[in-house]
Amino acid sequence: MNYITHTYDILIVGAGLAGSRAALEVSGELKTAVLTKLYPTRSHSSAAQGGIAAALGNEEDDSPEWHMFDTVKGSDFLGDQDAIEVMTEDAIRTVIELEHMGVPFSRTPKGRIAQRNFGGHTRDFGKAPVRRACYSADRTGHVMLHAIYEQCMRRGVDFFSEFYVLSFIIENNVCCGVVSISIHTGELHLFKAKAVMTASGGYGRIFKTTSNAYAGTGDCIAMLFNAGVPLEDMEFFQFHPTGLSGLGILLTEGARGEGGILINDKGERFMETYAPAIKDLAPRDMVSRAILSEIKAGRGINGKDYVYLDLTGIGRKIVETRLPEISSFVRLYMGIDPVENPVPVQPTAHYAMGGIPVDIDGRVLRSETGDIIDGLYAAGECACVSVHGANRLGCNSLLDTVVFGRRAGKAMVKQMKSIDFESCQKSFDLHADIALNRISGLKGSKGGDSVNLIAIDLKEVMMNNCSVFRTEQGLWEAVNLLKVLKERYERIQITDKGKIFNTELTEAIELGNMLDISEALAVSALHRRESRGAHYREDFPDRNDLDWLTHTFAFKSEKRIDLRYKPLSAGRFEPVERKY
Ligand code: FUM
Repeated sequence: MNYITHTYDILIVGAGLAGSRAALEVSGELKTAVLTKLYPTRSHSSAAQGGIAAALGNEEDDSPEWHMFDTVKGSDFLGDQDAIEVMTEDAIRTVIELEHMGVPFSRTPKGRIAQRNFGGHTRDFGKAPVRRACYSADRTGHVMLHAIYEQCMRRGVDFFSEFYVLSFIIENNVCCGVVSISIHTGELHLFKAKAVMTASGGYGRIFKTTSNAYAGTGDCIAMLFNAGVPLEDMEFFQFHPTGLSGLGILLTEGARGEGGILINDKGERFMETYAPAIKDLAPRDMVSRAILSEIKAGRGINGKDYVYLDLTGIGRKIVETRLPEISSFVRLYMGIDPVENPVPVQPTAHYAMGGIPVDIDGRVLRSETGDIIDGLYAAGECACVSVHGANRLGCNSLLDTVVFGRRAGKAMVKQMKSIDFESCQKSFDLHADIALNRISGLKGSKGGDSVNLIAIDLKEVMMNNCSVFRTEQGLWEAVNLLKVLKERYERIQITDKGKIFNTELTEAIELGNMLDISEALAVSALHRRESRGAHYREDFPDRNDLDWLTHTFAFKSEKRIDLRYKPLSAGRFEPVERKY
């Protein structure tokens, strides 16, 4: 056969925090490989700025129970409370463990891990903001990723950089490997493994304005969707309130945690109206809607489509010591000194709450009734466990990656079965054949349509019709336009016929993945006729707990997407009106 074969005990796709943390857990005894389409420490986890949530209580009183309550309420009561309890209870241990691995957290004057305010994190069940975000200036994801990567190197994990996965091999409901292409050489590599995990991150790149890296195209999510795995709660996509205007680059919520405020054209601190108790520290769905409502009402700065993030009251020392990264972005990209002048910001597509359905041990579900696919695991942004429900609180994503990455690692070790790879050989050959045909089909196509132009149209459709405010009409339009884009995709043509670093080829495949994911998002959003968390329907502006305390499961069949629903089981905290 025309491919190179590798055999491992455990194979992980994605070298960000969830994947690396899982690799660390399984390494040592077991032969472990991590594939990444980037270089490991360039994974998008490294762009996480403001912190990781844990009720350490280093700065003021706090408790895991308050953290759990805030996460449930932040999720607009759609998060699974058993999973949220696991995460919030494990948060303190997790942060101490990270410290012991060498993560250089910022410190209080007494030398403890410093903590700052973050949106939706409160004390005493919503009474006032609490400092719960443990941070390393505004480079928290970056330092965590470097520390865990170093630990993985120490434990002998094999990293395969610039390897792009083309398909998961699932035979008789057992996952036994993946087919991938080396971006460097263009050669096909087949990885056989007794357990396979995806930790491949999110897909913010389906939107025109996003904080996500170029790599955030949701590849593994789309591949599994096409292989029959359902996608859960795809309608919930978070917009972060403070993207740099016109660019989408993230300006951490930690800036508001340190005292920054949002102001409109009249110089009003408008969040006082929308969330009187916690103001600028309200959850992201609310702040993003508030900003866009101000803009719609003509109170954007000079009538334009942005408001100001004002850090001028914080003082140079805090800005430069606690927010060095974002202040350098503001200087570099906007030519503004944030200590002296307010910064133009607008909401930016940031985080997918939905994704591959998993249980609390990272096992991938193949239906809403809880059946699993043997040997297949997922964690991090690509997965939906669901701890974030309809809206994630800031700093809970870094926590999610390391808590559930570790749990998936432990589960893989415990449940690893021996696989008779010989008996899967036909399947390996078949998948490799399909991949080779696909690549030669793409290289040989004379269709004439351009990957780049279709991608531009896709991002426009998703931004206009499926972002912060949605309507039935807009979502129908999106579904129909996506069909047209998918037809155009059948006729794409690529000009680079070579093997070495053929990024035109990988971008073409990424586009196909983004189209599939966008369709799942639009169809799921169309059918949820209520407003909850990040899914706001102008035509159904109220939350409807009677009919919609359910998770959406989208299944792909040959011609269409079918939706099924899984009711939420009762949890400790009953749904109440979500006021802040
Ligand atoms: O605002 C931020 O620093 C982002 C953090 C997060 O998405 O958790």
